[in-house]
Amino acid sequence: MKRRVLIADDEKNMRWVLAQALSAEGYEVIEAADGKEALTAVAEQPPDLMVLDHKMPAPDGMEVLRRLRAKGNVFPIIMLTAHGNVTTAVAAMKAGASEYLTKPFDLEELKISIEKALKVSALAAEVERLREELDRDYDVEGIVAADPAMLSVLETIGKVAPTNATVILYGESGTGKELAARALHKMSTRSARPFVSVSAGALPETLLESELFGYEKGAFTGAMQAKPGRFELANGGTIFLDEIGDISLAVQVKLLRVLQERTFERLGGTRTLEVDVRVVAATNQDLQQLIADGAFREDLYYRLNVVPITLPPLRQRPSEIPLLVAHFLEKQSAGSKHISSEAMRLLMEYQWPGNVRELENTIERIAILSRGDEIGAEDLPAEVRSGVSMFAPGERCFVLPEGGVDLEEVELDFVRQGLDRSGGNVPKAAKLLGLTTKTLEARMAKYGL
Ligand SMILES: Nc1ncnc2c1ncn2[C@@H]1O[C@H](COP(=O)(O)OP(=O)(O)OP(=O)(O)O)[C@@H](O)[C@H]1O
Ligand SMILES: [Mg+2]
Repeated sequence: MKRRVLIADDEKNMRWVLAQALSAEGYEVIEAADGKEALTAVAEQPPDLMVLDHKMPAPDGMEVLRRLRAKGNVFPIIMLTAHGNVTTAVAAMKAGASEYLTKPFDLEELKISIEKALKVSALAAEVERLREELDRDYDVEGIVAADPAMLSVLETIGKVAPTNATVILYGESGTGKELAARALHKMSTRSARPFVSVSAGALPETLLESELFGYEKGAFTGAMQAKPGRFELANGGTIFLDEIGDISLAVQVKLLRVLQERTFERLGGTRTLEVDVRVVAATNQDLQQLIADGAFREDLYYRLNVVPITLPPLRQRPSEIPLLVAHFLEKQSAGSKHISSEAMRLLMEYQWPGNVRELENTIERIAILSRGDEIGAEDLPAEVRSGVSMFAPGERCFVLPEGGVDLEEVELDFVRQGLDRSGGNVPKAAKLLGLTTKTLEARMAKYGL
């Protein structure tokens, strides 16, 4: 395909010479006799390159250049300026010209400039295309991923989304199970139909049952009129059964039937209803353990565990933290802020017991609270700075080893670490260890430190 060059110059002879020379080089040449014509020509069909004379009746070349760049035109523009006018040349480059040539110039020189500018712009377009492709790769429906385990999760999601297969998502709290469930729906043929989410843990047993299956008028005291359940509402779409490990055995039986036959009755009803739903379940519990404890039905487990997908905890994929941080800053419209390398190191070393949700909340807070554009270590929450995770309630930080421990040895070790980390500053070390300065001094004396 011939590449189109637009020549904008008010001197007729100049246009004619350039048009002859460039046509001979195999370019398709369009001419504009002033700034207005040039803008119209671009609006009709943007050229691959433009040769623009600076000196023209208003709008002059500089004005045309500014307007074109302001409108987002990225094709290369070579500016022709009067001899010796360096100020104009500099201003042209600042306004987005690819190059400038001072009149009178050599035709060969112009041809080389055009070739070079077209090559650069083709390269820029290619980089842009590759970047878009990359974006698509690591950004499936808002899911940021770079770690191999997460990329394979995305691959599985992509493969299984268009099918009707039941999917169960395993993963600690905050690892992105709901995000994955929504991606499965959006990438399926059911995407125009509803995505209905039910969180089993949030509801008491009887309420959960009526939520899932609905009820008929008079099914129980207060059932003044019939109400459809979530399964009915999800008809044609996807139902997301969150925290499936929290469902009581009685409701499990009913669920098993829907999964097997896609039929059920409303509470207090006799009509058998049929639904067409895709089931996606999620849990942060170990279902095998629940089965062993008699709290989860094995047959239901097999119905759900058709395509198991496990979302790894964030601490197992620290390489994704920079991407996630950028993503969340962007989400907070704080994309201009950047993180110091020390702060990033701390963010990557922290264990994130609350996983991606905790990271998201942390970044949200920092984006609001930090002053200036640089986020430093001092802007991070204390637990991230100290590298000590906050543990979930009931979770133990310290586990007694099989062979037992020597408590004094443990104490000595912590005292040493405290002193190390505070650079030998006793009051600071005392604070880290949760002791008064006096107590710490007594311990130091005891251990001869
Ligand atoms: N890979 C990711 N890329 C971008 N955002 C993510 C990613 N993973 C999680 N998030 C975000 O982190 C938050 C928590 O994710 P989500 O609610 O999906 O977790 P969950 O596994 O369902 O947690 P819980 O078990 O506590 O319900 C959400 O705001 C989600 O958008
Ligand atoms: Mg969730």
